[in-house]
Amino acid sequence: MCGIVGIVKRHGKVVRDLINALKKLEYRGYDSAGIAILSDGEIYVTKGVGTIDKVIDPTKDIKDGSVGIGHTRWATHGEVSEENAHPHVSCNREVAVVHNGTLDGFNAIRNQLMNRGHVFSSETDTEVIAHLIEEKLNEIRDPVKAFSRAVYELKGSYAIASIIKGHNLILLARNKSPLVIGIGNGENYCASDVAALLHKTNRFIFLKDGEIALITPDSVDVWSLNDGIMEKVNRRVEIVDWSPQLLDKGNYEYFMLKEIYEQPYILKKLAKSVYYYKRFSDQLLKYSERGGISIVAAGTSYHAGLIGKFLLSKLAGARSEVIIASEFPEWSSHIGKDDVILAISQSGETADVLEAVRIAKSKEAKVLAITNVPGSTLTRLSDENVFIQAGPEVGVAATKTFLAQVAVLHILSSLISQERTLQIKEELLDISDSLESSMRYIDSASRKISSLLMDKEHVFFLGRGINYPTALEGALKLKEISYIHAEGYPAGEYKHGPLALIEENVPSIVLIPIDDKIRKKIIYNIMEICSRGAFAITIQPKDIDVPSDFSLPLDVKSELTSPMLYVVPLQLIAYYTATSLGRNPDKPRNLAKSVTVE
Ligand code: F6R
Repeated sequence: MCGIVGIVKRHGKVVRDLINALKKLEYRGYDSAGIAILSDGEIYVTKGVGTIDKVIDPTKDIKDGSVGIGHTRWATHGEVSEENAHPHVSCNREVAVVHNGTLDGFNAIRNQLMNRGHVFSSETDTEVIAHLIEEKLNEIRDPVKAFSRAVYELKGSYAIASIIKGHNLILLARNKSPLVIGIGNGENYCASDVAALLHKTNRFIFLKDGEIALITPDSVDVWSLNDGIMEKVNRRVEIVDWSPQLLDKGNYEYFMLKEIYEQPYILKKLAKSVYYYKRFSDQLLKYSERGGISIVAAGTSYHAGLIGKFLLSKLAGARSEVIIASEFPEWSSHIGKDDVILAISQSGETADVLEAVRIAKSKEAKVLAITNVPGSTLTRLSDENVFIQAGPEVGVAATKTFLAQVAVLHILSSLISQERTLQIKEELLDISDSLESSMRYIDSASRKISSLLMDKEHVFFLGRGINYPTALEGALKLKEISYIHAEGYPAGEYKHGPLALIEENVPSIVLIPIDDKIRKKIIYNIMEICSRGAFAITIQPKDIDVPSDFSLPLDVKSELTSPMLYVVPLQLIAYYTATSLGRNPDKPRNLAKSVTVE
């Protein structure tokens, strides 16, 4: 994971800007942080364990200058410690680097470098890059050529930014880890994603795998590196229309709450842009008529994918399968050139999803992608892509992007089925209105439910049909931010094992179907668990009588769209349980927003 940033200016200092940009990247990792600045011809490093605010205090005596790089870390190689925090410098302190990714076989390079007299001060794979660049600079004083020679020796995934003593420039390299270049006036930037730089610019160049770049205050040069030979390439400047305000918490205590509250407006926006998805749905239909549709995703996006499979079958009569991205290599032998992969990823950077896509492409399957982040790697690897238009999501737990993914899957299935094109627009507007008007009520009922869960060790989430994936999502939200063990289950499957775990007062949150036939079955399931002492909390259509210890009735109009309503209290229940327990829902332990390691 990790976030990297770099700023180079013609005039002025960079420390405050680096800190601001790094804070926007904290969702990628926050166990340690650091910056390296070129000042008065020397490289100065400030780094340590903890969040950016804790490590870098700009009011203290920190050297400032016109070029600098920064890093926020999610540890992969080496424990969380000051030594292992980035940036890393070469022996002679002539080179500093920050890196996101993991280098293959770095131990061999490290041993060779040590045999040649280099002294290492960390356990990280990244430090080899600094020493390698130092060696290459001893061979050739041209920084770009020395940098490209060093990069040529690296294998694995990397986004690298490096500064070199005596030069007002930043050198960049990218392979399988995200890196964007931001274009300013008399200053240029680089970062792991656009969100870090939106307060500075909306003009970006997206590097591709295997490319290196040089940025100075007034220029950007990009080369592809083929077998060690540099070839100049022209990269188009692209405009990103996300507003920087979306990265501001406003009056909300946490981004997660703000993002939950944004959901009605996102649905409205999607309702108004149904036809933006037409070309994509045509492609999906075309390829699916030739072969099969394999939906590939991880985590919350996987749950949206399960709902997508349901909708494609129910609305469009289309056959599909859903494969967890990290399992794709082992479960995809049947996929070939007639098949289409529908990759769903909020970040567009999840390594497991990208690996699945690369495998699918090597088998000549078509790749269609649904993502949220402009310029993300997935948009570059896929044959076609659409955006879910949710705006940047900062909270580590996915909320508004789940809802937007489900809404987009509704739109695609409806466009394919043709008959429902107008209806889906109305339905999205209706859910948006219903959510907008009942948000306060859902909020306070969810808060009450959270008070019933706070002291529990286990919580179960049960659903049937289209709300079985919603139950999985409710459980994932609760466990990842409150650290209470939670499991989601299809309600009918419960009696095949998990029922053994039910004892006095174990809470089960049950999502009640609107459809009579399925509802009868789930009522039976509730009775089964309650007779064993469970505490049943129902989220249910209003004006319907269901046995429960606590119910949260909602204005549900259709079974198919109910996940978009039901998921909102589930998100808020997780949020209030976590905050009441003193956990920070925006930064759950051990997790990062963008999982760029396999
Ligand atoms: C859970 C969560 C994760 C992500 C997963 C995939 O709240 O956010 O489970 O859904 O890491 O991420 P994307 O969608 O970026 O591929």
